[in-house]
Amino acid sequence: MTTNTSGFLYRSPELYDSIYRFDDTGVRLTKMCHELLVRNGKLPPSPVLDLGCGTAYKLAYLHEAGYECVGVDYLEGMIQYARGEYPDIRFEVGDVRDVRVGRKFDVITCLGWVIENVHSCEDITKVMATFATHANPGALLVLGTHNPIGDLVALGAKSDFAIEREDFQATGSASFTVDRRRQILTRNLTWSLAGGATEEEVTSYRLFFPMELEHYLTSHGFGDVTMYDDIELTSTDLEGSMLYVTATYQG
Ligand SMILES: C[S@@+](CC[C@H](N)C(=O)[O-])C[C@H]1O[C@@H](n2cnc3c(N)ncnc32)[C@H](O)[C@@H]1O
Repeated sequence: MTTNTSGFLYRSPELYDSIYRFDDTGVRLTKMCHELLVRNGKLPPSPVLDLGCGTAYKLAYLHEAGYECVGVDYLEGMIQYARGEYPDIRFEVGDVRDVRVGRKFDVITCLGWVIENVHSCEDITKVMATFATHANPGALLVLGTHNPIGDLVALGAKSDFAIEREDFQATGSASFTVDRRRQILTRNLTWSLAGGATEEEVTSYRLFFPMELEHYLTSHGFGDVTMYDDIELTSTDLEGSMLYVTATYQG
């Protein structure tokens, strides 16, 4: 599998956080996740497992709201940074395809371009097994992924980046291509760094179509699959750029 972690943002969680943590979309997405938990009756202190937590600012919001949180990411640097920022939250280094944290949860979240990093059908099946293994009966899964049925070439995805810090400045510009046969979206991101240097970052993401996703979920014990295409959770015509999916674990 492609690791998708070669870019300098992944090498520097602090810079990553400076872009996303206070970004309007990131904050709205965090609140949407909380809203989905409340709507589905998952109130504090329900235990929450966040797979691919990154710098964990979303998980920290749920922790603040009173949920009992555990975060997993396969990048050691992300987890070290998250532990430093949020010492009261338990974090584990692990791969969403095979991590086992040794307990079950009432809520499992996997948000923000995590599952897209898993490209093969075989590996996606392993991710589903990870979801199921950690789910209490009735557990709620909240999954976010790019929505190719609404926005195949990622016109709605973030394409302009800017880092304005005293010690570091950079701008980034992204374009996307699609391999339709393999259902892979590739982002080509060019960073312009202070001093004139540039850095190329190529990232490939698996595209998930709604019925395919539903099939993976239902064949791993998840039912009542609901899909939204916008952060406001209003529209369900699936024309939006992202898919926000909830499903309940029925065992
Ligand atoms: C774009 S970040 C999103 C972080 C966080 N979920 C959020 O929404 O802010 C994607 C994260 O997924 C992690 N990731 C990618 N593939 C993974 C895998 N196979 N297992 C665990 N984490 C993974 C990356 O290390 C990265 O931290």
